[in-house]
Amino acid sequence: MKGILLAGGTGSRLYPLTHCTSKQLLPVYDKPLIYYPLSVLMLADIRDILLVCAPDSLAPLQALLGDGAHLGLNLSYALQREPRGIAEAYVIGADHVRGQRSALVLGDNVFHGSGFYDLLARARREFTGCALFGYPVSDPGRYAIGEVDGKGELVSLEEKPLDPRSDNAVTGLYFYDQDVVDIAAEVEPSERGELEITDVNREYVRQGRADLVQLGRGFMWLDAGTHDSLLEAGHYVELLANRQGVRVACVEEIAARMGFISAADCHELGARMSGSAYGSYVMDIAQDLTGP
Ligand code: G1P
Repeated sequence: MKGILLAGGTGSRLYPLTHCTSKQLLPVYDKPLIYYPLSVLMLADIRDILLVCAPDSLAPLQALLGDGAHLGLNLSYALQREPRGIAEAYVIGADHVRGQRSALVLGDNVFHGSGFYDLLARARREFTGCALFGYPVSDPGRYAIGEVDGKGELVSLEEKPLDPRSDNAVTGLYFYDQDVVDIAAEVEPSERGELEITDVNREYVRQGRADLVQLGRGFMWLDAGTHDSLLEAGHYVELLANRQGVRVACVEEIAARMGFISAADCHELGARMSGSAYGSYVMDIAQDLTGP
């Protein structure tokens, strides 16, 4: 299964933070924002990933992540020159995914919860057309909202509804079969001038081939696209690090635990950052994996 990480956009909702820094490089406590969505694809056992980014972000993202080989990944890059909507990721990334199943994750989405690896593995095994991931929120007007019938089947999707039919937000993680490229190619710009991913998902709902996987109580999903949510995400990650000693979205740890790199490689990555608490954590993980 292939991956696309969409790190486009101008980050205008975060001005002036994003005047000369890419949104995906902003800190969420101890690491750049992009580590969080990247770690989601890695947990889904996806290693061949296309990073779609704005022209200004290309050089810094390449400096940060390179070709991904140090994490056992194969990262490539493509440009989204204007923020024309999420579905454009499948126009730009058509060649990357053609003929294969794929996952798309948005560059500002933060997911964390116990059992996430198993949930992703199960969704990956079971989906036929597409799998969407639902999460109840208190501010449904900000997101795509899914409505399910009595049997839990998805019956409608609305993008940022004024009068939401439910509080079940559709998060920025999507699994698709190979038809997504053709479906995305047919999407017309919406009233706000964007190629809406919700229009792609509606087509799967129409075909009766859309699964809605529920992220349950106790799970954390945030989109770190506003000043408040960016800070909240940082506080959440800080709390887990300080209280439980767990570092959310530590890509070196995930690469080692998934078997993408060896424990020795993980130790080496930590040693390169040995001046920081994060580097020490990565070295400790490598030590744990090596055993006594
Ligand atoms: C986008 C999508 C929306 C989705 C959300 C998740 O919203 O359009 O369907 O629920 O991401 O983060 P945007 O970030 O464009 O407001």
